[in-house]
Amino acid sequence: MGRQLLIVWHSRTGGTEAMARAAFEGARGEGEARLMRAGEAGAEDVLGTDGYLFAAPENLAGLSGEMKEFFDRCYYPVLGKIEGRPYAQMICAGSDGSGAARQLARIATGWRLREVQPPMIVNTAAQTPSQILAPKVLETAVLEKCRELGAGLMAGLAGGIW
Ligand SMILES: Cc1cc2nc3c(=O)[nH]c(=O)nc-3n(C[C@H](O)[C@H](O)[C@H](O)COP(=O)(O)O)c2cc1C
Repeated sequence: MGRQLLIVWHSRTGGTEAMARAAFEGARGEGEARLMRAGEAGAEDVLGTDGYLFAAPENLAGLSGEMKEFFDRCYYPVLGKIEGRPYAQMICAGSDGSGAARQLARIATGWRLREVQPPMIVNTAAQTPSQILAPKVLETAVLEKCRELGAGLMAGLAGGIW
């Protein structure tokens, strides 16, 4: 069986979900990919795959609660068992995203994962409460970049580049 990519996502208003689904579409054109919501993914899923794409919204300058809870739940059960595996991340934010990306990178460093693509941060320009709470619709060009990221990550994994 070929090497497998696990995409773990959380989303409150649909932006990150659309990004993760686009990446999944790209990835599964290149190999074996799984798409799991953070609340449903567990340590066994993390252990049983070869590479990762983590996708989360930035909430209050860090990872969204459900995504953080996924890492809190899985961190110690898999620590020391996935070292060197490749990963990339996608963050959906209103106007920043750097805090969430930094937090995710620190967690990945703790796991000794290998970052193989730079973080993709997408800003939705949501600033006011009504904009923040509104469902997010991302531009086709943005989703295409997510698709390409997923395809590239999977191709590198399947081809043994990382
Ligand atoms: C509780 C809350 C806190 C947020 N905090 C931030 C923030 O610190 N920085 C930022 O750029 N956007 C922030 N946002 C905006 C979201 O990141 C933005 O709406 C993003 O598109 C949400 O992605 P989603 O549709 O996948 O949930 C926040 C949104 C919520 C609901």
